[in-house]
Amino acid sequence: MILGIETSCDDTCAAVVTTAGVLHSNAVASQGLLHSRYGGVVPEIASRRHLELVGAVVADALERAGAGLDDVRAVAVTRGPGLIGALLVGVSTAKALAATRRLPLHAVDHLHGHVTASMLGDEPIEAPYGCLVASGGHTFVARVDHPSGFRTLGETLDDAAGEAFDKGARLLGLGYPGGPALDRLARTGDPEAFDFPRSLPGTGLDFSFSGLKTSLLYRVRDLGDEVARARAADLAASYQRAVVDALVARSLAAIERERLERFAIGGGVAANSELRTRIAEECGRLGVDLWVPPHELCTDNAAMIAGAARFTPALPYPAYLDLDASATLA
Ligand code: KG4
Ligand code: ZN
Repeated sequence: MILGIETSCDDTCAAVVTTAGVLHSNAVASQGLLHSRYGGVVPEIASRRHLELVGAVVADALERAGAGLDDVRAVAVTRGPGLIGALLVGVSTAKALAATRRLPLHAVDHLHGHVTASMLGDEPIEAPYGCLVASGGHTFVARVDHPSGFRTLGETLDDAAGEAFDKGARLLGLGYPGGPALDRLARTGDPEAFDFPRSLPGTGLDFSFSGLKTSLLYRVRDLGDEVARARAADLAASYQRAVVDALVARSLAAIERERLERFAIGGGVAANSELRTRIAEECGRLGVDLWVPPHELCTDNAAMIAGAARFTPALPYPAYLDLDASATLA
């Protein structure tokens, strides 16, 4: 069994996964409420909270798996990218747990975790495949020829899609984190009520979401507070449609350009109901097999980190004792 630990942002996560990719537990302590009063993640508060929670979350993951530390053969941890203080809590915990038992340690790239989330479970996706990862910090399409890595085909030049959701939600007075709230509100609105720009920069596979957010800001200002509040559902639905259109357009372009027969989505935004429906329709139309992970494997989790560890070389004891977290791991 591999014990995974993930603390790159504001979720304290631990999971137990077998070397065959069977999921035994996937524990998450979300700090969402703690940060909501600030309208976003406060890095220093996140680090301190991880420190308070990580021991209990690891114990919970082991208990849910019906396992103890004696059953763990390797420890996996997110090394980066993410908030440096938050990452350090996970990395230090993983090093301590592994070192006391002389276990090997896998230092995992968070994005590799999102890219390979669909390789967990009963019917894992097989390489080669394409993947859209859209989260609060990253948005890119990638090609996976071997599960040990991925090649980025296009990425956002400014905001991530999750950031667009969170900032849009904030403009509509929906609180933090805004993605799920905007998704819910959009279900009762008309996606064609307002026209928002679909920015598809260049001729490649890159994304851009900052103009869209600005466009919502101006629209809300032009409508005035009262009308904007009354039409919040239409604004949410139209705004969401613009984000999803861009994500789907680039995914389809990647599928076509790379002649992909299998495609997966991942990252927190992959929990979005409209994206899940639309990408399934389009892949179905093209005869491309699509993997859509359950919500708990889309948003940040440690199962994907333990899963990706299977394709990441292990560091033996004591080589990892000087391992450092990295805010900007490529
Ligand atoms: O992957 P993730 O949990 O953390 C990062 O690595 O960033 O992604 C979090 C992002 C947030 O921006 C959140 O608003 C967004 O994913 N998100 C959603 C939905 N659920 C989470 N965005 C749109 N619709 C959702 N249902
Ligand atoms: Zn993430």
